[in-house]
Amino acid sequence: MLTEVSATRYVTPLREGGSLPGLVEADDLGLYVMKFTGAGQGRKTLVAEVICGRLADRLGLRIPGLAQIRLDPVIGLGEPDPEVQGLLKSSGGLNLGMEFLSGAIGFDPLAHEVSAEEAGRVVWFDALINNVDRSWRNPNMLLWQGDLWVIDHGASMIWHHNWRGAATSAAKPYDASDHALAVFGPDVAGAASALAPQVSEELLLECAADVPDVWLADEPGFADPDEVRRAYATTLLTRAQGLEQRITLGTPADLPKAPADRSAAQAEPSKSSGRAGQSAPAGWRESR
Ligand SMILES: Nc1ncnc2c1ncn2[C@@H]1O[C@H](COP(=O)(O)OP(=O)(O)OP(=O)(O)O)[C@@H](O)[C@H]1O
Ligand SMILES: [Mg+2]
Repeated sequence: MLTEVSATRYVTPLREGGSLPGLVEADDLGLYVMKFTGAGQGRKTLVAEVICGRLADRLGLRIPGLAQIRLDPVIGLGEPDPEVQGLLKSSGGLNLGMEFLSGAIGFDPLAHEVSAEEAGRVVWFDALINNVDRSWRNPNMLLWQGDLWVIDHGASMIWHHNWRGAATSAAKPYDASDHALAVFGPDVAGAASALAPQVSEELLLECAADVPDVWLADEPGFADPDEVRRAYATTLLTRAQGLEQRITLGTPADLPKAPADRSAAQAEPSKSSGRAGQSAPAGWRESR
């Protein structure tokens, strides 16, 4: 089970996110990025965040720690913004929290370097979860303390919106040419041999066990939350088989030109890191 905390203060909306996540303080004095059950994207977004987030962590990718946050909608009563107030009012009960990485900056493939090994692991993982939300336009990765962190898996596992077609959908190829890390020559074969053997039914069920029952209850076609958890595990396990062969690599045709110092940077060690003194390219976004 995820750690449970209670929200004590709504600090500010993170307007960059389409689902209007918010920065929230909790009773353990921690700061969390909170994603709300009442958001338009629905509770399956939160289910995807938990299963994929736990899986990323177990496979060794860096991802902010997850928690379940209990929200008393009364916290929203004093909010001046009606959109925020509406979101808080409709999200009473359990919501999802991620540890806030204070001072993190948004990853930009034109400004930062990632090794082929690390890029391969992220691309293979995204192929496994059918993540279409890590393009160079919207990388959904952060740099924090010199390392690359993955966030935002809410749009993954598209097949859970239509369970009847899940097996067929999970067998489909994954085109990684638009991926934010496509330009770093991802070593997908290396990633597959390191990660695929770890993706067992047991591991997947452990990840699915962290989803609160209340987000899985009353799923049409399933008797109870545990049956839904088994369906996630089965589908992901099927998808992992021979996945490497179904990943198409390439580079996005419309990626803007890299800054002039890119070729020099490529000669450096490939650990991801921000470079002090470099001017920010267009599209640079700081996380708040
Ligand atoms: N754990 C974190 N620590 C610091 N900043 C974060 C964290 N999680 C998210 N952010 C910031 O908040 C923004 C929105 O978060 P996220 O991408 O998860 O939301 P979303 O609504 O799902 O976004 P999208 O518009 O991509 O669907 C991120 O781009 C990032 O700047
Ligand atoms: Mg996002």
